[in-house]
Amino acid sequence: SDSPRALSGIQPTAGSFHLGNYLGAIRQYVALQETHDAFYMVVDLHAITVPQDPAELRANTRLAAAQLLASGLDPERCTLFVQSHVPEHAQLGWIMNCLTGFGEASRMTQFKDKSAKQGADRATVGLFTYPILQVADILLYQANQVPVGEDQRQHIELTRDLAERFNARFGETFTVPAPHIVKETAKIFDLQDPTIKMSKSASTPKGLINLLDEPKMTAKKVKSAVTDTDTVIRFDAENKPGVSNLLTILSTLTGTTIPELEKSYEGKMYGALKTDLADVMVEFVTPFRARTQEYLDDPETLDSLLAKGAEKARAVAAETLAQTYDKVGF
Ligand code: ADP
Ligand code: NA
Repeated sequence: SDSPRALSGIQPTAGSFHLGNYLGAIRQYVALQETHDAFYMVVDLHAITVPQDPAELRANTRLAAAQLLASGLDPERCTLFVQSHVPEHAQLGWIMNCLTGFGEASRMTQFKDKSAKQGADRATVGLFTYPILQVADILLYQANQVPVGEDQRQHIELTRDLAERFNARFGETFTVPAPHIVKETAKIFDLQDPTIKMSKSASTPKGLINLLDEPKMTAKKVKSAVTDTDTVIRFDAENKPGVSNLLTILSTLTGTTIPELEKSYEGKMYGALKTDLADVMVEFVTPFRARTQEYLDDPETLDSLLAKGAEKARAVAAETLAQTYDKVGF
């Protein structure tokens, strides 16, 4: 097709995607499938950069795919697949490893954060080089746009550098991609500590909105969100991070602008905002959970859909890899 290409990947995390994943990334996946030739994958190769249980990984990979479908990805409008089903990722990953400086890789802040959590001695070389595998993930599909949250910006920069380096050294081969980061939702914050990003690994249990939680639990978490000692419902990310985070979430899920929200909450208390957001969240997660469960209840359909996705992805990936092999002298 002549449409620009989009590519993104998401880890098969245990349990559930969280609201930060959805608002920062998955929502953009769904939008871009309408305008782009879009490729989305569950990145199981990235999942083994930290110790994994094989049966759990397999289940989480299906769970991730089911949640992406439940979010609105449509296999007729995009290519949805599992990374390990396309061996070209690892193959191009090696070439990209050989193009990356050790110092350059050492500067990736995500590795510093993630290895600190693992304990420096236990972090694997795979965790160290995972941004470089991510470079290959993107370049294989000649992606123009990469929808991600703010925390991935540095990795897209690395991807651009390596694409340009390869092209300069071996001749025009790769499209140089751009990050597609929606400013408003690029960083959703923890509900209990609105100074840190909502994340599977760093959030407190009460500050993390899992999309597959019991809706009652979700409502409870929203209602106990940390705000501030002021009483005005106003967007001010610096001085009122808690309230601002709630406004961002409500605005995105309802399509109401932040100024409109500020106006409608004039003279009202924080409790009103939280109650409304809790209702909106419950309305959002209830059908999401049901749709996810439908896909999980029919693993044969899910697997066959992912197999077809892998076939479509491989056709593109194999062509890029063949060109790359030729250029490097294989
Ligand atoms: P986590 O950070 O919880 O481990 P991932 O690294 O798997 O999640 O992120 C998957 C996608 O979700 C990435 O594109 C990432 O940028 C985005 N993302 C993760 N957390 C947030 C957040 N709090 N706000 C916005 N986007 C996020
Ligand atoms: Na499309």
